[in-house]
Amino acid sequence: MEENNITIHVQNPDGSRTELEAPVDMGLSLMEYLKACEYDILATCGGMALCATCCVDVLEGEEKLNEMTDDEYAMLDTLPDLLPNSRLACQLQLNHAMNGLVIKLHHAE
Ligand code: FES
Repeated sequence: MEENNITIHVQNPDGSRTELEAPVDMGLSLMEYLKACEYDILATCGGMALCATCCVDVLEGEEKLNEMTDDEYAMLDTLPDLLPNSRLACQLQLNHAMNGLVIKLHHAE
């Protein structure tokens, strides 16, 4: 692994996992990175914690993430199918601590 990359695993709907190498030195959020990898994330609010279309469920590594802001919590709280490990990917800036994170797109079939 290069110094400025971390590994993130995305669990696919069939249960398999895709390993991604994400850069931490470009100021990207997890939402921006997943979109760049062509995951199906609308991100209609552009990363303002206002649409919840970027919601991901964190399967492993939740403790590595920054604490939720009130705005993130308020938006997540509007989702009828919210899970305790759901987060807004636009509110998670990629950083070294997130290495090894395992996520799943909340809205993936
Ligand atoms: S992109 Fe809209 S809430 Fe994250």
